[in-house]
Amino acid sequence: MTKKRILSGMRPTGRLHLGHLVGALNNWVRLQEEYECFFMVADWHALMSEYENSKALKECIYDNVADWLAAGLDPDKSTLFIQSEVHEHLDLFMAFSVLAPLGWLERCPTYKEQMRELKDRHISTYAFLGYPVLQAADICLYKSLVVPVGEDQLPHLELTREIVRKFNGLYGEVFPEPKPLLTQIPRLSGLDGRKMSKSYNNFIALSDEPEMIMKKTQSMFTDPKRIRKTDVGHPEECNVFEYYKIFSPEDKNEVALWCKNAERGCTECKKILGERLVKFLGPFQARREAFIEDKKKITYILEKGRAQASCVALETMKEVRHVTGMVACPTK
Ligand code: TRP
Ligand code: SF4
Repeated sequence: MTKKRILSGMRPTGRLHLGHLVGALNNWVRLQEEYECFFMVADWHALMSEYENSKALKECIYDNVADWLAAGLDPDKSTLFIQSEVHEHLDLFMAFSVLAPLGWLERCPTYKEQMRELKDRHISTYAFLGYPVLQAADICLYKSLVVPVGEDQLPHLELTREIVRKFNGLYGEVFPEPKPLLTQIPRLSGLDGRKMSKSYNNFIALSDEPEMIMKKTQSMFTDPKRIRKTDVGHPEECNVFEYYKIFSPEDKNEVALWCKNAERGCTECKKILGERLVKFLGPFQARREAFIEDKKKITYILEKGRAQASCVALETMKEVRHVTGMVACPTK
């Protein structure tokens, strides 16, 4: 039986953090056993917001792919590639752009949110408005049936389905309607309890040194009702405890007891968490370092991925050209 196909992507806009590991990467690693997976570095999408500092993209791509590999993505099982190296993404983006009414795009909640939040980025551009259309092209180029994404991406999936319905309605059943595949893991909050995000600078990067991990852990927000060490705490309302549950579940019960009985203070609790995180990330970071030092290997993996992705992408575009009448050379 042929495996169902999956495509997902990540924008290379900075170093990856713990949230990427538990929210996306660990899930991708599991999926590669069951599906035919395409994992893409969404560099065009990154450029839409980072074009003023585009020279950093290349380093970031190597850095992120090293994290992917360290997390366990296996190039023998999955196709890892860079979006801009497979030109058909832009072909299909254009074919979809002509079907996407401005109203759909202007109403998209992620668009409105980003326009509010990234005020310093000058993203009120033509391309940025079309962000979800390019994402729809990414997904459909591989006829991905399911798309593993976080909840924040649901509006983009909805838009993809609308574009697919419009395309299929006009030209015939070419694309399946992709469904989102949400992870079971609850979202990991940032150090300050807000959403973990590069723009809030409230994350622990997968490449942070042990001292940095200790320092950042110490800065975490705790149960606001526990001000003095003698106050009893409420672990369920404490972000630090959430981290214990995910990264050191064997300590969970003991920590809850210290906290509720005011036996140990938050400083000590966070210090122990920091040590656990350092230990948790140790083997990951050793694997990551080995990949960082072997850039040729990463280049090779991405080149192989480009070739594999291109095969599928070309086939789909051939079909699209055929059904739309956009044949490259009409006399042939
Ligand atoms: N927009 C996604 C994000 O920011 C990245 C992305 C680009 C993507 N193309 C995709 C995700 C296609 C899934 C499928 O996380
Ligand atoms: Fe949070 Fe630990 Fe302090 Fe309890 S003791 S409030 S779990 S940091």
